[in-house]
Amino acid sequence: MLIQKREIQKVPNEMMNMLHEDELEVVNDLHDAVLTRDIEKIDELFEALLAETEVHFKTEEDMMQQVEFDGYQLHKSDHDTMREKLQNYHKRWEVLKGPKELKGFLEKEYKKWFILHISKWDADAALHLG
Ligand SMILES: [Fe+2]
Ligand SMILES: [Fe+2]
Repeated sequence: MLIQKREIQKVPNEMMNMLHEDELEVVNDLHDAVLTRDIEKIDELFEALLAETEVHFKTEEDMMQQVEFDGYQLHKSDHDTMREKLQNYHKRWEVLKGPKELKGFLEKEYKKWFILHISKWDADAALHLG
């Protein structure tokens, strides 16, 4: 398992917590497929992760805009950085089909980012969203 549920901070907004749990499930499934080098499964789950991430980010951005939250731009730019990374790794995956590179990205970059983004940016936004 890449990320345990207890490693993820709960934020004071239930919608956000739900989005985080959904994404957690997909990324853990993807990590399992990477460990077993199941190329077809990785194909499928990598796309599922891109879709899930977009729902997660877009929903948060819409909620922040609705309340004209001051921290919107900075928060969104942290989303955009990860959007770009995921797109780039996905493009490389499509060409190279390299589970090893993907494993490195998930374990060394994505995991840290996910935990930190939630405890910093999402926890702060959730306070304003309620
Ligand atoms: Fe989030
Ligand atoms: Fe966020």
